[in-house]
Amino acid sequence: MTPKTFKIKNFGCQMNVYDGERMSELLAARGMSATAEADDADLVVLNTCHIREKAAEKAYSDVGRLRREDGSKPLIALAGCVAQAEGAEAQRRSPMIDIVVGPQAYHRLPEMVDAAVGGNRPVDTDMPTISKFEAFPARRKANPSAFLTIQEGCDKFCTYCVVPYTRGAEVSRPWDAIVAEARSLVDAGACEIVLLGQNVNAWSDGKHGLADLIRALAGIDGLERIRYTTSHPADMSDDLIAVHGEVDKLMPYLHLPVQSGSDHILKAMNRSHSTETYLRIMDKMRAARPDIALSGDFIVGFPGETEADFQATLNIVDEVGYAAAYSFKYSARPGTPAATMEKQIPTEIMEDRLARLHERIEAHQLAFNAGKVGQNTQILIERMGRHAGQMIGRSPWLQSVHVATDAGPGDIIDATLVAAGPRSMTGAILQKVAA
Ligand code: 5AD
Ligand code: SF4
Repeated sequence: MTPKTFKIKNFGCQMNVYDGERMSELLAARGMSATAEADDADLVVLNTCHIREKAAEKAYSDVGRLRREDGSKPLIALAGCVAQAEGAEAQRRSPMIDIVVGPQAYHRLPEMVDAAVGGNRPVDTDMPTISKFEAFPARRKANPSAFLTIQEGCDKFCTYCVVPYTRGAEVSRPWDAIVAEARSLVDAGACEIVLLGQNVNAWSDGKHGLADLIRALAGIDGLERIRYTTSHPADMSDDLIAVHGEVDKLMPYLHLPVQSGSDHILKAMNRSHSTETYLRIMDKMRAARPDIALSGDFIVGFPGETEADFQATLNIVDEVGYAAAYSFKYSARPGTPAATMEKQIPTEIMEDRLARLHERIEAHQLAFNAGKVGQNTQILIERMGRHAGQMIGRSPWLQSVHVATDAGPGDIIDATLVAAGPRSMTGAILQKVAA
């Protein structure tokens, strides 16, 4: 039976959220409608993540959970990075999976659904040279803060990372396609656009870089805020740093993963920067935009990491004074060089280091947030809070702010930040300025 309803479940990064939106639009264009719950859908798409073992394993337990009480199951499509990494092997491991579609092939999902309905078990993990983006319908609905993929893939080959294998080589979308999509997102209700790429600051069309693109997008009426993520230190050009001091719509926030504070670990990770070059970038960012909120990612327990290496990581956290940071236990990924390195670190040591790193990061987050108490600023309202009359929005520094207001999603309100926690803040409203 041809499916009439679908549910897409996204895991992993923001790019998967974007991909999930595009798949949803493709299926809607065929007359299918989305359901709130997977249980009610004829087709369930699991848009998976392969970055760490736990995320990848989750894909399979989630497939198993799609079996219904009466023994039936929906049509199941495994999409995203697990699909890319495992291909047809995924169907051998879990025969419930009907369709396997990688992140560069999902524009073909509708035909694959037809094939599956016809009794086939299609697998598509191609990385076509013709961009999938051309195959999508125009954007018609957008969140107040909308994602826009401008670059995909990675050529950096950090020794721990699956992304170069699951997302392929670095590819930049053309300038005109990006500007057109940004315009349609704004027409569809977005007032903030978050430019996405695995190495977003590597974006280039041969003539322009990300800084030029940001300057151009800032000219779009109705677009109030621009952000971009995730950047690589090797592509942090002086022009991009400078644009933070020039373009008001570019929010004062930079997510720049460093992964470790130890130079010999950075070398073993094949990061193309040292702690010194990284810190110099952060200094330049602060010079260009003194109030910038700095963010990063860390991996603890990379093979060979000693207590002294870990101490160096704690030191760089102190030195940067992160407004936010994300930390992960190293996870050995099949096919990556680090997986077969000597001196893999025992789990207990990783857990101990992760807890200590969390504590240190949280102290800095709290300090950053506390430093903003008393500040008047603008909050982009995104969604309802848990209590009646309470809304949740974002400050320019990407802090999650709880505020009692009758403003709705997409409104930007003037507010004073009145109280700080390590992960969120409370705001008090001054007045509504834009709708
Ligand atoms: N193990 C643990 N964390 C990882 N990351 C990437 N690969 C791994 C891995 N094998 C982390 C990095 C990256 C973030 C998205 O995930 O910190 O910046
Ligand atoms: Fe996960 Fe990386 Fe794929 Fe995003 S690109 S879904 S983080 S493996």
